[in-house]
Amino acid sequence: MAEKNKLMLELEEMQTQAHQALAEIQQETDLQKWHTKTFGRTSLLINVFSRLPEVAKEERPVVGHRANEIKTALETEYLAKQSAIKQAALQRNLSAEKLDVSLPGRSPLQGRLHPQTQTLRQIYNIFAEMGFQVYRSPEVETDEYNFELLNMPAYHPARDMWDTFYTTKPGVILRTHTSPGQIRAMREFAPGPIRVVLPGMCYRYEQMDASHEIQFNQVELLAVGKHITFGDLKGTLTDFARRMFGEEVQTRFRPSYFPFTEPSAEMDVECFVCGGKGCAICKGGGWLEILGCGMLHPVVLRNGGYDPEKYTGFAAGLGPERISMLRNRIPDIRYFWANDIRFLEQF
Ligand code: DAH
Repeated sequence: MAEKNKLMLELEEMQTQAHQALAEIQQETDLQKWHTKTFGRTSLLINVFSRLPEVAKEERPVVGHRANEIKTALETEYLAKQSAIKQAALQRNLSAEKLDVSLPGRSPLQGRLHPQTQTLRQIYNIFAEMGFQVYRSPEVETDEYNFELLNMPAYHPARDMWDTFYTTKPGVILRTHTSPGQIRAMREFAPGPIRVVLPGMCYRYEQMDASHEIQFNQVELLAVGKHITFGDLKGTLTDFARRMFGEEVQTRFRPSYFPFTEPSAEMDVECFVCGGKGCAICKGGGWLEILGCGMLHPVVLRNGGYDPEKYTGFAAGLGPERISMLRNRIPDIRYFWANDIRFLEQF
């Protein structure tokens, strides 16, 4: 064959260079530049046919044929390189991220209700079945509502039992019990009949120990109307105890004293740990005190807007923390508000 013509030599030269350049490429972006240079509009491979007139007529088919061969060969190399680069990138990602798809998943932490929210809701449910509504009253109270209107004037010695936190504003305190809510509910509903539970936080100035906290919940019970008797009080509270602690539970009422009720009593339930025989939980007595109660004092009724000659009512105050402690044998009241997840997780 005759000596190769110039165009043919250019083609061969171009192929060698493209081949070598491709071998060195590592990056996708460089590969794209290479592709444009090799197959783009200004490339020799694309323009070779318009340059065929430079070549002797009989050599033109040979040059054209060769150009096509080179084009196909370079295209094949290009595709191989492209997949090699992709593969390498994948390998790099895999080893950098170290994703182990066989690792078991981490289950998300599931929140739940605080044990006292659970106990409170249980109490609401029981009283709701007996027709009592939940009535909210403020935790920040006045001396007037917390003491005065509940028949405890400033000089009254019973105030000592309910010492509290005082704000810098005279007469504004943190409530020591839910009882001031009685006055608020009565003033809202008087002279209509009332059946409400008043739940919420109470605060006291206490020396803290296993059975004394400076904050705790109470649930107050209040019923006002005509012809309400001590029998209604006993029936309602006994029924509550049965629903809360079980059908078989024994209850007893002991006379007591509260300034806002007359007569007053405390209710005990038979110790459900020992069944009344006497154990460490009931301190040997066989009974557990769970609430204070009584018939509304005439002064309290009058302060609430009811004529004590025509209306009567009963009230009770129970401690849900105490109920939880007894039921779950929790030895220390301070656990409830200490925010220790190891305690809370158990409920
Ligand atoms: N408020 C009382 C206390 O905190 C509990 C109580 C006793 C509430 C008798 C009452 C009641 O409504 O009638 O110790």
